[in-house]
Amino acid sequence: MDNRGGFKSKFGLIAAVGGSVVGLGNIWRFPYLAGENGGAAFIFVYIVICFLITVPLMISEFVIGRSAKTDVVNAFRRLTGGRRWEIVGYVAIISSFVMVSFYSVIGGWSLDFIKEAVLGNFTGKSSSEINIWFDSFVNSGTMPVIWSVSFIVLSCIIVIGGIEKGIEKFSKMMMPLIIFILFGLFIYSISMKGFGDAISFLFKPDFSKITPKVVLLALGQSFFSLSIGMGTMITYGSYIKDKVNLGKLSSTIAITDTSVAILSGLAIFPAVFTMGISPTSGPDLVFITLPSIFAQMPFGYFVSIIFFILLFVAAVTSSISLIEVLVTYLRDEFELKRSSAVIITCCTVSVVSSFITLSLVQDSAFTIGGMSLFDIADKATGVFLLPFGGMLAALFIGWYYGRDKFADHITNNYTVKLKESIINILYFIIKFVAPIVIGLLFISLL
Ligand code: PHE
Repeated sequence: MDNRGGFKSKFGLIAAVGGSVVGLGNIWRFPYLAGENGGAAFIFVYIVICFLITVPLMISEFVIGRSAKTDVVNAFRRLTGGRRWEIVGYVAIISSFVMVSFYSVIGGWSLDFIKEAVLGNFTGKSSSEINIWFDSFVNSGTMPVIWSVSFIVLSCIIVIGGIEKGIEKFSKMMMPLIIFILFGLFIYSISMKGFGDAISFLFKPDFSKITPKVVLLALGQSFFSLSIGMGTMITYGSYIKDKVNLGKLSSTIAITDTSVAILSGLAIFPAVFTMGISPTSGPDLVFITLPSIFAQMPFGYFVSIIFFILLFVAAVTSSISLIEVLVTYLRDEFELKRSSAVIITCCTVSVVSSFITLSLVQDSAFTIGGMSLFDIADKATGVFLLPFGGMLAALFIGWYYGRDKFADHITNNYTVKLKESIINILYFIIKFVAPIVIGLLFISLL
């Protein structure tokens, strides 16, 4: 197993993990969820949950991965010497497979939107015109399939390069680009009339807006955004050097991810308020509302190109982490060469993703109980699989792995100074708080 490779530099590691967490979740999902659920109140709940529950779960996943140094399924065999916990790994494999098949549909749209923006096809269009165009695009079937498959192939080309020369190298170039573009968009939006309204919307919480539903959505979103419950952090963890401080890494990542999400809000909402549009347009926010706003703004032509490039780059750095879960599994479990593992993954994900894309065509056969495969994959991952996977990882660390081994790992055999009380709190959250909160979430969903 020595030739598995791994993350080489500290910056490369942060860029790769950062690339995984920063994605459509930050730029597409977070703004529309915040928009629909009370803005600042949602963000407040989100931040609390993120640091209280999701970060400890991320640490747990890293600990599992780094101590086992193998794929998500084998990890549980190796750490327990039995097969019972293997199921956690299989859940992660299924989740990341479904997730990447669904994620690439939207990643594919971002590619098409770059093309439309470059051709100037949004210029002068109203939101209802863009809506009609978007419907016909999604309904055309073939084009969206070609784009999503292209998106998968592009991601696979990066993964074929391996951890260090593929994922790490690519993320090291792309993460700074993402932050740079977002900052640029933010600075541009400061000049807008609606900037003040956006600031109060994002930062002045109306606590009466916090309902159980808001808490649930914030919890689900924090898992989605921090790539928890899909085996990504277990897989990446298996490539992390023993001397890396996992607690510090996780907090750095969570701070980066939250800042990027808020920065996206700051880049998007000033334009929304300037044009007098309601912030509650839901999933359409980024794909219909925004292009129609860009269409009427000064420099809108360039801003829309830059924005969709940003969306695409952020989506690729995330999809490669999901593909790597599957590739590492095929490599470690079946001793396949990386290239063969990537090709198998690329083909199977492309097929499933095409079905998901086609399920959005009107009267499509790819529906179950009246719901399109797209909606099923969206709900199944966001609402069920991610929290479930996160809960299983927490239960594993809390009830099987044990506090002492956990403490050894987060302190790197006591070379990292960490107060015993902090370790105890962390362990308490992993053992009791996280599983109970997630359990309550499921009960409330029923
Ligand atoms: N965190 C990514 C985003 O915010 C999505 C993702 C989830 C990636 C789970 C990997 C695993 O878009």
